[in-house]
Amino acid sequence: MADIFERLIKNYGPIGQHRERAHGYFAFPKLEGEVGSKMKFRGQEMIVWSLNNYLGLANHPEVRKADADASAQYGLALPMGARMMSGNSDLHEQLERELAEFVHKEDSILMNYGYQGIMSAIDAICGRHDVVVYDAECHACIIDALRMIPGHRFVFKHNDVEDCEKQLLRAQALVDKQQSGGVLVITEGVFGMAGDQGRLKEIAALKKKVPFRLLVDDAHGFGTLGKTGAGAGEEQGCQDEIDLYFSTFAKSMASIGAFMAGPRTIIDYIRYNIRSQIFAKSLPMPYVVGNLKRLELLRSKPELKDNLWKNALALQNGLKEKGFDIGKTDSVVTPIYMKGGVEEATAMVMDIRENYKIFCSIVVYPVIPKGHIIYRLIPTALHTQEEIDLTLKAFSETKAKLDAGAYKVAEIPDMANK
Ligand SMILES: Cc1ncc(COP(=O)(O)O)c(C=O)c1O
Repeated sequence: MADIFERLIKNYGPIGQHRERAHGYFAFPKLEGEVGSKMKFRGQEMIVWSLNNYLGLANHPEVRKADADASAQYGLALPMGARMMSGNSDLHEQLERELAEFVHKEDSILMNYGYQGIMSAIDAICGRHDVVVYDAECHACIIDALRMIPGHRFVFKHNDVEDCEKQLLRAQALVDKQQSGGVLVITEGVFGMAGDQGRLKEIAALKKKVPFRLLVDDAHGFGTLGKTGAGAGEEQGCQDEIDLYFSTFAKSMASIGAFMAGPRTIIDYIRYNIRSQIFAKSLPMPYVVGNLKRLELLRSKPELKDNLWKNALALQNGLKEKGFDIGKTDSVVTPIYMKGGVEEATAMVMDIRENYKIFCSIVVYPVIPKGHIIYRLIPTALHTQEEIDLTLKAFSETKAKLDAGAYKVAEIPDMANK
């Protein structure tokens, strides 16, 4: 019989295989100091484009005070136990009410984490005969949820409304044949890698042809899109068509936790059936109080979103003017598409970090096809025009070096912490 552990250490996986040269630099880097547009990496100050601190709330003085005061008052223990048993509080319920109101829904339920929360919510919603129709580029948490559910699922080509309709018709035919079950469509408000908004309005319009319920993961739209920051549905004028609205607190809210909002009856059903919350300790009080403060700032300080967009547009327009391909983004997420191998990409990142003092993330094979490189820049309300200009200059110069073959190396540079 094989030893499971033996197999694991023979193959550390697509990224793990590079760990001996990459750990601490290309993978698991440590950003230090106050969260902001500049942080320290290996002792050097760098302009950071990797954090989803969209509105700059991570270090907002009112947020820091609320977090600190709540930690002093409650500690991390309170409330003890799962919400259903002993871990409920007025403040948890207040946050749920305020979140629901913010995204124009009747009620909402808190979750300790986005990833496990949405997985467990999908598990709670979908029965044996229900059929899920979902976008091919949905986040891993949705894909993993679909591995758990017992019913059928049909994937549609990314943001392809025609294909979505085709898959809906297949789903409808299956439900008709089973004489049982319904259809749930799952997509995202903003796709976090490419920055394109899900075509929510057009997908929702398909309800006229095939009846279904629509669940939207709006992790990147919440707080960044829509007149009031209520997200991609508000931006596209179809918030009412979203039956279940989900967002994590890990991005605009610069915190931990998540929520799902929708009709009171359905949220109540989820509340009594979501295993990740029923069988887990509730969100600690400092998170709840800290999230209430963040939500208050989302409501009361529209200038945070305005600054974010001012910076995002300056960055995106600057890149376009310089001839960069930033794809189809219509959110603040800013991808830059280039061509090159994994080794070249890492050598280029090293140059950008070491010589231009810019820290950003890259995506390479096997996450995307071989020979492609995506830089993913996340602007925030805190970035300055000077930082944007320096970044544009750095990308122009390093792209020219990439095109001239200056980064052709045989191996990933060995930058691991020894
Ligand atoms: C689209 C999307 N959904 C869900 C999650 C998971 O949220 P969390 O970090 O709260 O687990 C993320 C990442 O944070 C995300 O980008």
